Amino acid sequence: MSILIKNGRIVTATDDYTADLLIINDKVAAIGQKLEVNAKQTIDATGMLVLPGGIDPHVHLDMPFMGTFSSDDYSTGTLAALHGGTTMVIDFILQTQGDTLYNALATWKEKSKGKAYGDYSYHMAVTDFNENTRTEIAKLINEEGITSFKTFMAYKGALMIDDGQMVDLMNEVKEHGGMVTVHATNGDMIDKLIAKHRSEGKLSPLYHYLSQPEVTEAEASARFADMANYTGVKSYIVHLTCEGALNAVRKATERNQKVHVETCIQYLTIDASLYEKDFEGAKWVMSPPLREKKDQATLWAGINQGLVQVVATDHCPFMWEQKLMGKDDFSKIPNGHPAIEHRFELLYSEGVNKGRITPNKFVEVASTNAAKIFGMFPQKGTIAVGSDADVVIFDPNEKHTISVDSHHMNVDYSAYEGWELTGKTKKVILRGKLAIDDGEVKIEKGYGQYVKRKPFSKI
Ligand code: URP
Ligand code: ZN
Ligand code: ZN
Repeated sequence: MSILIKNGRIVTATDDYTADLLIINDKVAAIGQKLEVNAKQTIDATGMLVLPGGIDPHVHLDMPFMGTFSSDDYSTGTLAALHGGTTMVIDFILQTQGDTLYNALATWKEKSKGKAYGDYSYHMAVTDFNENTRTEIAKLINEEGITSFKTFMAYKGALMIDDGQMVDLMNEVKEHGGMVTVHATNGDMIDKLIAKHRSEGKLSPLYHYLSQPEVTEAEASARFADMANYTGVKSYIVHLTCEGALNAVRKATERNQKVHVETCIQYLTIDASLYEKDFEGAKWVMSPPLREKKDQATLWAGINQGLVQVVATDHCPFMWEQKLMGKDDFSKIPNGHPAIEHRFELLYSEGVNKGRITPNKFVEVASTNAAKIFGMFPQKGTIAVGSDADVVIFDPNEKHTISVDSHHMNVDYSAYEGWELTGKTKKVILRGKLAIDDGEVKIEKGYGQYVKRKPFSKI
């Protein structure tokens, strides 16, 4: 099996040049000028960008949450991701409180078995850290390749752990070369505000937003950074949304601490004014909520300052029928929104096309940094000889419009309906196989593979 991509503009996190790219079997075999080889298939990429496949390290597929399940499973979710240029996702396994991490892993292996189109890996969300769970950490890292452990500082009673458990977990994870990631918002403060709004009869989606003010995220982010500094564990904040939280991370750099930061495409592109649309605002009920324009500016700047290293989605879609569970009470609206398909193209259009980030920065935050931070580089996240041939051929000038009528996600509305984008994914190659060709699917369900990740060096 071989593919020769000719005359494309190859952009990685560090380079930007025109060349030919030869793929043999599942790997990049050669890069050079005017390669003279007889490949099985030749693609003329003149005028196109040739990019590493996108990596979205924050998705929730078929996840039990708030009395229902997210509506994309491994099949629909990874296929929609591929259509948009994302060749790999990292999904969250959720431990059930009182049960083991390995039982949760078995459930997620069943969910994903034979179903994925795109490649995937798992984070383990630890919702109950105790002496039993402690013994599972080393095995998960060394035998299963699950090196990142997610924690929740909110969602009390279901997912949240307390600070004592957090510090214990951090010590254990550090010992074995893993990383602790966090949903950093102050759960107790949020629960108080939710109760207050409900008791006052303030029940619309707007009060979801007003129950999670910026301070709840800034406080928890600073506390998490302090605990990570104290224990010395490798740390990562998921879906960071606002100036206050980013300032906590900036402050941590003053003591030479590195806290990795992910934001999500929605926090860069849409804002809290959407909650003024009465119940329609439920489409954007997610945690943390959308923020303000000043926060968007901070996040774009944070990307360019290197403080924000990853742009993910927190893809957690629900059908409108499911959102209606909270018709009379915002606290019952399943939290999450659909974006897995649009992250790559939205980020290009709003970022590169509008001059906010360079093409190199785009590749860095849409692919390379996730591969590096989560122990998959250089197998994933770049175009280099020997790397997996996960390649997107992208037209930087083609205009198109997002709509529920044309998207591939299993959800019956779009959070970005009518958005006009510049830049479109034309072809997607996954491990050397043409997977998407101008919107046509060329691979079978089950082609997607589990990616085992490497523990982090202690040096
Ligand atoms: O609203 C969200 N973010 N839903 C998914 C769960 C989480 O907090 O990441
Ligand atoms: Zn979260
Ligand atoms: Zn999430």
